[in-house]
Amino acid sequence: MTAQLDSVQEAGTAALEVRDVTKTFHVARSGSGSNQLRALDGINLSVGRGETLGLVGESGCGKSTLARTLMLLEKPDSGTVAFDGKDPFSLRGKELMAWRRRVQMVFQDPFASLNARMTAGEIIAEPWATHRGLFRTGREREARLHELLELVGLRASDAKKSPQEFSGGQRQRIGIARALALNPELIILDEPVSALDLSVQAQVLNLLNELQEKLGVSYIFISHDLSVVRHVTDRVAVMYLGRIIETGTTEDVFERPLHPYTAALMSASPKLDPADRPAERIVLRGELPSPLDPPSGCRFRTRCWKAEDICARQAPPAQTAEHVGRVQLGVPQLRGAAAPAHAAECHFPLTDAAEPGLQPTTVGE
Ligand SMILES: Nc1ncnc2c1ncn2[C@@H]1O[C@H](COP(=O)(O)OP(=O)(O)OP(=O)(O)O)[C@@H](O)[C@H]1O
Ligand code: SF4
Ligand SMILES: [Mg+2]
Repeated sequence: MTAQLDSVQEAGTAALEVRDVTKTFHVARSGSGSNQLRALDGINLSVGRGETLGLVGESGCGKSTLARTLMLLEKPDSGTVAFDGKDPFSLRGKELMAWRRRVQMVFQDPFASLNARMTAGEIIAEPWATHRGLFRTGREREARLHELLELVGLRASDAKKSPQEFSGGQRQRIGIARALALNPELIILDEPVSALDLSVQAQVLNLLNELQEKLGVSYIFISHDLSVVRHVTDRVAVMYLGRIIETGTTEDVFERPLHPYTAALMSASPKLDPADRPAERIVLRGELPSPLDPPSGCRFRTRCWKAEDICARQAPPAQTAEHVGRVQLGVPQLRGAAAPAHAAECHFPLTDAAEPGLQPTTVGE
């Protein structure tokens, strides 16, 4: 490993902290409806160094918007995104560039995300054109390029090939090498293997794991594939309609979900031990409500089989502010560290004595 990689390992012990982030898109008005689409609504998160945080939730719940906000591609209406307490939205010039290096992204589609007119070497080295001054000589630059190729399991000679000459898995390796080029502390992986064949998925996931162990990099792993999330993450955050409704260790969230939505989501995921299989799979009725017109109070109430009258009047702030904050604030959760207490629960007392997991919802039909 080079001195460059070593210095990044030593430098970053900080976790990324996301506090009360809200993002509204202004969209074309349909009829008399709202044109304010609240894609993120009071997001609280933290990611520890060397940790993999899974981000799950139905299509349209805001996962990619959160990823784009962390990449500074979207500016939040309010809230902060910070490493070491430094909010990038208040930084300028060199400080902002330095911050940008810390978070990189790997995209879902390795075919669409690589420029077919560039060679693999040019693609991987592209970030160095914006972030100048990383190398003293051309030879140093080339050595680093070859090192990155080898790090992701490709050959130095592959630098001269174009993306079309690689398989899907190899292309994703190029995408990962590009993400590593600036020695980031956090890589956001937005559905990184869903476009790949199963056997290739396993190779890319193994590579990500090896890189994390070698470099200490943190990941936010976004995926619809719950069995993959279960396999590769340390903690999981569950999103519903722009909010995080539950976080916890991967084992807690999968085995002992507290929020009814999480229970429904996880009841469909494969269990490690067939004896743990719930008596009945919870089938959620109805679609995710429109973020243009979210339900009052608890956003999940239109599909929740435990909903009470109070749920329509009162939002459950404890699930984001109190539970997530209490467990995660400033406490980077490193691989192998003691598991935290579970981070969320449905905060209204439930009069319904039925066990979660046994009753499919009938609300919202
Ligand atoms: N640039 C934009 N302008 C307007 N609305 C947007 C924009 N980007 C996202 N949205 C809306 O914000 C909401 C969240 O979208 P987002 O892409 O973050 O969801 P997602 O969880 O990543 O979904 P998927 O799992 O399908 O990728 C959706 O209702 C989407 O239509
Ligand atoms: S019981 Fe009420 S607050 Fe809890 S998840 Fe259901 S609708 Fe939301
Ligand atoms: Mg998305």
